[in-house]
Amino acid sequence: MKNPFTIGLVSGEKFCNRKKEIKELKRFIKNSQNVVIYSPRRYGKTSLIQKVLKDLSKEEKKLITIYADLFPVSSYQDLVDFLSKAIIEGIGKEVNKSFIKKIQNLFKGITPTLTIKPDGSFSVSLTYNPSASIELLLSDIFEGLYNYILSKNLEAVVVLDEFQEITTLKESHKIEGIMRGYIQSHSSISYFFIGSRRRILLDMFTNKNKPFYKSSFLYELKKIPEDEFSKCIIKNFEKTGKTCSTDLAAMIYNLVEGYPYYVQKLSSIVWDLTNKKVTEKIIFEALNVLINTEKADFENIWINLNSSEKAFLKTVVKLSNFPIYSKEFIHESGLSIGGIQKAVKSLIEKDLIEKDKTYRLTDPVMKLWLSREINQI
Ligand SMILES: Nc1ncnc2c1ncn2[C@@H]1O[C@H](COP(=O)(O)OP(=O)(O)O)[C@@H](O)[C@H]1O
Ligand SMILES: [Mg+2]
Repeated sequence: MKNPFTIGLVSGEKFCNRKKEIKELKRFIKNSQNVVIYSPRRYGKTSLIQKVLKDLSKEEKKLITIYADLFPVSSYQDLVDFLSKAIIEGIGKEVNKSFIKKIQNLFKGITPTLTIKPDGSFSVSLTYNPSASIELLLSDIFEGLYNYILSKNLEAVVVLDEFQEITTLKESHKIEGIMRGYIQSHSSISYFFIGSRRRILLDMFTNKNKPFYKSSFLYELKKIPEDEFSKCIIKNFEKTGKTCSTDLAAMIYNLVEGYPYYVQKLSSIVWDLTNKKVTEKIIFEALNVLINTEKADFENIWINLNSSEKAFLKTVVKLSNFPIYSKEFIHESGLSIGGIQKAVKSLIEKDLIEKDKTYRLTDPVMKLWLSREINQI
């Protein structure tokens, strides 16, 4: 039997619940609203939106679904490339003569060339004047899409994943300004801005001085609730001839604080170690394997932190119940109030900590790793 748990994008049977979110996101799209979806990385944003797009492209014949992952952009030409290719792919559900004709006239200054592969899928390459201004290229893309939608009496949803990455481009303010103009005037298109670097993304939409200020709904993607995720875990074991009790499924979930990626990863390791029936001993063994698997990543993050950030994180792990400006916290960390303030600011920017009632590490496995390291010293 094959391991039923996955740490890649989840789809089909592997996709667990999120019924409420699916319904809400579909409603936004049907109303052509603009939405920001934010959460820490690996919470399931991409899996969720892909599922919604897949469902909708079956349910809504007049809706075009467009998805672009902007994580790798490093120049405005990249952005032009990713956006126009995503639009072409969204329009071209199937490649036929009329599709080729359609996309030939889609943009004014950007000319796409298709290469059709033996399996019927296609790849696109673009030619355009590389010294064309960013205004010209972006307006070509956004107007091209909008005119197409209007002329065919269609609607569209455009998803821009890891959208905050455009802030790393030197022309970012200009790009945001141009885009804001289009998203506001495109009444039959719903724009989704998704991101894992929450501080940066939210700042783009909540800072008065930024072009996207108040342009979209803010939608926080939370964890999958324990009872739902547990049901999925139990079902996955059953499907593959093994058993996991409700209590032990809850234990898997809680050990990694319900963090979706780690729930899957820990379940996957537990599955590998289990012959027939999951036990508590197996789960602890699996947790140890999980921490060791992630260790290199955490060490990498750690060596890039300054000494106050390190001191702050260690103290948050040790004194999780103390307020950060308490006497105990200040004493244990060896930091001044100013030092604590500075560390908090930079660690939040890096998404390494978040605030609930008190501050805590965003990544629950990093917390386990760090407390193990502290105890070994
Ligand atoms: N609905 C879900 N059901 C089961 N597992 C999920 C679900 N959503 C996320 N996961 C787990 O979390 C991991 C990260 O999901 P992903 O969609 O890439 O997150 P993000 O886009 O927020 O970084 C997936 O590989 C999977 O293991
Ligand atoms: Mg993602």
